[in-house]
Amino acid sequence: MAGKYLVFTCLFLAFLLSFTWYHLKDRDWGRYTAFPCQTENTGSNSIISHERLKDSPLHRMLYEKPDLLKLPRTDVMIATPWQAPIVWDGTYNLDILNELFHLRGARIGLSVFVIRKYKVFINDFLQSAEEFFMAGHKVHYYVFTDDVSGIPNITLKEGRNMEVVKISGYKRWQDITMRRMQLIRDYISQKLINEVDYLVCLDADLKFMDHIGVEILGDVFGVIHPGFFGESRTAFTHERRNYSAGYIPEDEGDFYYTGCFFGGTVEEVYKLTNFCHNAMMEDKAKNIEALWHDESYLNKYFLYHKPTKLLSPEYAWNDYYGSPVVVKRKRLVHVPKDYNAVRD
Ligand code: GAL
Ligand code: GAL
Ligand code: MN
Repeated sequence: MAGKYLVFTCLFLAFLLSFTWYHLKDRDWGRYTAFPCQTENTGSNSIISHERLKDSPLHRMLYEKPDLLKLPRTDVMIATPWQAPIVWDGTYNLDILNELFHLRGARIGLSVFVIRKYKVFINDFLQSAEEFFMAGHKVHYYVFTDDVSGIPNITLKEGRNMEVVKISGYKRWQDITMRRMQLIRDYISQKLINEVDYLVCLDADLKFMDHIGVEILGDVFGVIHPGFFGESRTAFTHERRNYSAGYIPEDEGDFYYTGCFFGGTVEEVYKLTNFCHNAMMEDKAKNIEALWHDESYLNKYFLYHKPTKLLSPEYAWNDYYGSPVVVKRKRLVHVPKDYNAVRD
C-alpha cells in the first residue's frame, strides 16, 4: 500500500518537474532584469552580472532618502487618480532622472511651427531652448516653416541639431494650428520614428525661462492649462456641442489641458496626433470647428486616453494669470503678442 503511494508521489513530482522545466527553459530572464542593471547576453538567456552594477552611474550616487511618510508637496496634487505623476517643482530628483535617461541614450525631438508672422518668435524660442531645454541630452529640433529664410542659423550646443522642414502654410490661423496634428503625424511615420525616441510638440510663441528636462518624459504627457487649474469642470472651455468630435459633457473631464505643449514617445504622439487630426476632419466634413481648435480635440483625446504623466502649469505659464503661490517656477512662458499683428 505504502509502495503504491510512493510510486504515485514520485510520478507526480516527476511530472511537476518536467512541467516546470518545459515552461521555463526558453524564458528570457533578461526581461526580468530591473532597469538599470546591465545584462550580459549569453545566447538566449541573459545573466545579470553583479560586477557590472558597479558600472552603473547610479552606483554610489548619494542623495537624500525618499521618505514614504512625507509628501514632497502638500499644497498640490502630485498624482492623478489613475496614478500618473503630476510634475511640480520639488517632486523629483533631477540627478537620478538624468542618469536614467542618459543610460537609455534617449533622443528627444522638439517640433515647432513657424508660419507667417510667427517668425518673430523663433529666435528667442530657440536661443532660450538651447539654454533650458533638455540640457546635456540629445536634442533634435524640427522647425516646420513656410519661409526657410526666416529661420535664424543659431549655433547649437554639442549633441543637438536642427532640421528646417519646408511646408505650405494655411491662410487662417485656426487651420495653421489644427493642421499641425496632421503634419506631425505624417512626419513621424516618414522620418521621426527612426530618429528620436520622444517627441515634444510646442507652440512657437513661447520662451523658456527656467529648466525643462527629462522629468517631463513619459509615454504620453499633457500640460495643465494655467488658466484653469483651480476651476470646476463646468468652467473648462471644452467643446460642448454634442455633434462635434471634440464634445465633452459638462459632467466629464479631469483637467483642462493646453494645446501649446504635449508629447511622449514617438509611437504615442503618432496615435495622439492621428486621433486629433481625424476628429478635426470629421468636424470639417460637417462644416464645424471645435471651440479651441486643436486644443479641444487634444482634451478629448486625454479624457479617454489618459496621459501617463502630467505637467503642472509651471510648464506653460502665462503672465496674464499672475503669480499664484503654488507656481514656484515659470519654466516656459507665453510671449505677450499683439493678436492682430500676428494673425491677420
Ligand atoms: C486662453 C488661451 C487660448 C486657449 C484658451 C482656452 O487663455 O490664450 O489659447 O487655450 O485660454 O480657454
Ligand atoms: C491661441 C494661440 C494659438 C492656438 C489657439 C488655440 O490663443 O495663440 O496658437 O493655440 O489659441 O488653438
Ligand atoms: Mn500659442
